[in-house]
Amino acid sequence: MNLLETMYNRRSVRKYTGGAVAEEDVKTVLKAGLLGATGKNIKPWEFIVINDKEVLQKLADCRTGSVAMLKTCECAIVVIADEKKTDVWVEDCSVAMANMHLMADSLGLGSCWIQARLREANDGRTAEDFIKDMLAIPADYKVEAVLSLGQPEGKPAAYTEDDLLFDKVHYDKF
Ligand SMILES: Cc1cc2nc3c(=O)[nH]c(=O)nc-3n(C[C@H](O)[C@H](O)[C@H](O)COP(=O)(O)O)c2cc1C
Repeated sequence: MNLLETMYNRRSVRKYTGGAVAEEDVKTVLKAGLLGATGKNIKPWEFIVINDKEVLQKLADCRTGSVAMLKTCECAIVVIADEKKTDVWVEDCSVAMANMHLMADSLGLGSCWIQARLREANDGRTAEDFIKDMLAIPADYKVEAVLSLGQPEGKPAAYTEDDLLFDKVHYDKF
């Protein structure tokens, strides 16, 4: 599959069958994150892989609203960054998240971006404080997002050419 086909196929998958995810596949997803471009090549991110089901259950409280994916996924990758290293850590982490999400899809895995930055946890704290406390993340680090991973159940249809909003593209001036 070429890259554009992979991009048409990529969807957020929030339901998983409970089937195992191969360690090798998780490693491939991590490689995609580590290959992400970063401002000045500083690579301020770190990735915390969570395989423990009990930890995943607890992590599901990191956000208000529906983050049920964390209760049924096989694995999650928390993306954090040391904000002292760069002022573009948000962009750097986002590139890594997007790369990993796309790679997961290309491997046939289901995955979903769970926003943590600027969001609230179930206990009234910020999602960031909740996650930092729970995972013993050092004070200087910021938490961007969590990628849930699992075998997909009922993946949404792939995008087609008709879904592309070319009216959002401008040439030479707005
Ligand atoms: C910055 C960002 C934050 C997101 N946060 C969440 C989230 O917290 N929970 C969730 O279920 N999906 C989240 N998503 C997934 C979007 O809802 C999803 O990408 C969008 O609805 C389009 O669907 P698609 O990914 O299948 O194309 C997020 C995506 C991005 C890029």
